[in-house]
Amino acid sequence: AIDIDKLRSASGAITIDPGYKNSGSCTSEITFLDGEEGILRYRGYSIEELADKADFLEVSYLLIFGELPTATQLEKFENDIRKHTLVSEEMKSIIDGFPRTAHPMGVLASLTSALTAFNPKPVNPNNEKEMYEAVCKTMAKFLVIATWTYRKKMGYPLNHYDNSKGYVENFMSLMFELPTGSYKPDPKVIDALDKLFILHADHEQNCSTSTVRIVGSSHAGLFASISAGVSALWGPLHGGANQAVLEMLQEIHDNGGDVDKYVLKAKDKEDSFRLMGFGHRVYKNFDPRATIIKKAADDVLVTLGVDDPLLEIAKKLEKVALEDDYFKSRNLYPNVDFYSGIIYRAMGIPVEMFTVLFAVGRLPGWIAQWKEMRVNKEPIGRPRQVYTGYTLRSFKEVKDR
Ligand code: ACO
Repeated sequence: AIDIDKLRSASGAITIDPGYKNSGSCTSEITFLDGEEGILRYRGYSIEELADKADFLEVSYLLIFGELPTATQLEKFENDIRKHTLVSEEMKSIIDGFPRTAHPMGVLASLTSALTAFNPKPVNPNNEKEMYEAVCKTMAKFLVIATWTYRKKMGYPLNHYDNSKGYVENFMSLMFELPTGSYKPDPKVIDALDKLFILHADHEQNCSTSTVRIVGSSHAGLFASISAGVSALWGPLHGGANQAVLEMLQEIHDNGGDVDKYVLKAKDKEDSFRLMGFGHRVYKNFDPRATIIKKAADDVLVTLGVDDPLLEIAKKLEKVALEDDYFKSRNLYPNVDFYSGIIYRAMGIPVEMFTVLFAVGRLPGWIAQWKEMRVNKEPIGRPRQVYTGYTLRSFKEVKDR
């Protein structure tokens, strides 16, 4: 067994591990991931079974509180989230200050951080009641402001949560409902989105989650830590890849659909282009989420009667890359983001919102990891370095430089 107290007090030699490829930052009971075997489990339950049988709020509860909720606990959780869905009117003046051209992820990070101003009391993670309330509040308000980033972009009036609808259904109607009240989402679309949120809900110590943990390790509040997670997720090498994949597929399509040309380009070391949606730091065999999403993409397109040429390009690209020695020798496979954008597009979600959807799905994971880190009383995250700059130099007055 690992003696964590001994590791915590360790000091002395410094290991250099850029990108933390081989460094564990914590112990965790939340998510198990085996990159060689393509296994992903939340609290011991396989992602395949959860995606098939559970719903997003059930999975959120499981991740955050450690066990699947009973029917009573689940109903209470949903009701308690509803109690917090009202977002302060003053938040609207903050959102008004952004230009409509602003990227929704930037707006989301800012609004999440701004929530701190309206909820200044720090939560004590060891007080179960306080923590439970903070969880419900965060799940409620983050969902609403995430949809507001879209309404802002479109110049539409901001919508409020409808307590007669479920959490994921609300996400869609908060985005798309117009004052005429005519928006009726297909229940199969809601189910597919629910599944996508489950697949994104946690993924152990990825870039955004590690960010949430390290920011929280300074005892910064939950909203501030999650806001930092949103910023980390935004990058195209992480959650921003779902937007980048769609833009790449569109570009291939607009240039005549020649996938071989793009595979060649991705292999060219002089070219910074990478096949977006390919490769993963941990999965070196296949990403189990991608397998589920590929099937879901087929199903959603059939349900909605959408014939998307980009899905064909994606399939062709996958086939060519998987047979290519460059990709085979580096264990580069499609990741979760490779097919998710195709589904979002079929649902009518604009490309710039894709990473926001990822953030809504990842929220319970961020909360669970923040809570675990604080309850475990982890020390402040503070990596070391090996200094490679100048040795001591004498200062020169500006006139002598
Ligand atoms: N296209 C072409 N070559 C690639 C790709 C790609 N998508 N991904 C990795 N490689 C190559 C690298 O050039 C490198 O080649 P080399 O050994 O000849 O130098 C080798 O594969 C290893 O790549 P690294 O960048 O060292 O792997 P790392 O684990 O650091 O990066 C990452 C993983 C960031 C996901 C990378 O594969 C990538 O950039 N993929 C595209 C972006 C993407 O899809 N991100 C989403 C990840 S999933 C998520 O965050 C939800």
